[in-house]
Amino acid sequence: MTNAKSNLQIDSARLWNDIHETATFGATPKGGVKRLTLGPEDKQVRDWFRKACEAAGCEVRVDALGTMFALRPGRDMSKPPLGIGSHLDTQPTGGKYDGILGTLAALEVVRALDDAGIETEMPICVCNWTNEEGSRFAPAMMASAAYAGEYTTEDILSRKDSEGITVAEALDTIGYRGADVVGQQKFSGFVELHIEQGPLLEAESKTIGIVDRGQGIAWYDGTISGFASHAGTTPMPLRRDALAAFSEVALAVEKAARDFGPNAVATIGEIRIENPSRNVIPGDLTFTIDVRSSDSKIFDRLHEAIRAAGAEIAARRNVSVAIEKIWRKEPTIFDARLVDAVESAAKDMGYSHRRITSGAGHDACNLASVMPAAMIFVPCKDGISHNELEDATQADCTAGANVLLHTVLSLAGIASSGKTNS
Ligand code: GLV
Ligand code: MN
Ligand code: MN
Repeated sequence: MTNAKSNLQIDSARLWNDIHETATFGATPKGGVKRLTLGPEDKQVRDWFRKACEAAGCEVRVDALGTMFALRPGRDMSKPPLGIGSHLDTQPTGGKYDGILGTLAALEVVRALDDAGIETEMPICVCNWTNEEGSRFAPAMMASAAYAGEYTTEDILSRKDSEGITVAEALDTIGYRGADVVGQQKFSGFVELHIEQGPLLEAESKTIGIVDRGQGIAWYDGTISGFASHAGTTPMPLRRDALAAFSEVALAVEKAARDFGPNAVATIGEIRIENPSRNVIPGDLTFTIDVRSSDSKIFDRLHEAIRAAGAEIAARRNVSVAIEKIWRKEPTIFDARLVDAVESAAKDMGYSHRRITSGAGHDACNLASVMPAAMIFVPCKDGISHNELEDATQADCTAGANVLLHTVLSLAGIASSGKTNS
């Protein structure tokens, strides 16, 4: 970064306004956002984003999985762009910041460069990755995983939501199945700004998290089959109750994560009783398990503990318990050069900061396996996320966007500036 540019800042009011304007697409009565990937509200925010990027002088391209790439040219177009951005989809009871901050801050970086008349050496590409959240279609972060070569495009297009709608159908319905081949857009690197989604920065009164690692994630689909029968006439000892068995499985999953803690967490976020009825003993149910750790050896041991508990409960209760792994993402180590660039930007701007591991999954974690990548965190209120109460301050969002701006200036380089003689 040159001295002439060290005071450059994004427009805080414009960023804050964008966050609140886009929060109207899928706004919930409790002040959050419900914008499931590839639904009608996702189309609204995508149309808004496309228009805003075009108004900022970018060319917007869309790939076969609906990921949006807004390109701001650089002086040297032989260099692949530096990617910045995040996602615009949310959880069913999500907040205004998860993903949105990083995507809108990336747009704001482009506008700030425009306002300052700065041409960067390298082009810049603002990204909105499809289906980061994974709540409508599994796995989470599917578009960046396909970009990184973990899945074929056809595989992802065929994934179904709980109503049987495929990703391909959902993309076609909202008009976002683009022409670009997945992976066609190359990058020199990728930097993602995000709220922390955890309590550490707030607890330590730090403004910026320099993310150098990300937890690994494994997802499982579970099925328990017992026997559905009459709630009034079936004596307790004769029951093969799938829900009672599930209750033991749920506690065993919690115990396994506690036993391997503090570097392990496990969550059962969905459970569905088939054909539920208040006077029928549950016969069949399905559930999900989300397991995370930054140590892949703990992953294996957790997996084994959960499998053994399932087998023991099944035998004792005369039900079947099947737990199938549907996704595993290894822990991420971000690129040292990019992480250092984020740290220097935070220092130069005078923000308090600390190194941090991401507990959440992010598209940058997938991209880190095929390009240099790094992340910037800012605090969120009480560490709450994936909840309508999710909140962050304008000052912290602005600080994160300023660190993103200065990380971009140092990584993409300044070719010329219309407003100063640097
Ligand atoms: C993505 O939002 C995750 O589950 O970490
Ligand atoms: Mn996110
Ligand atoms: Mn999320």
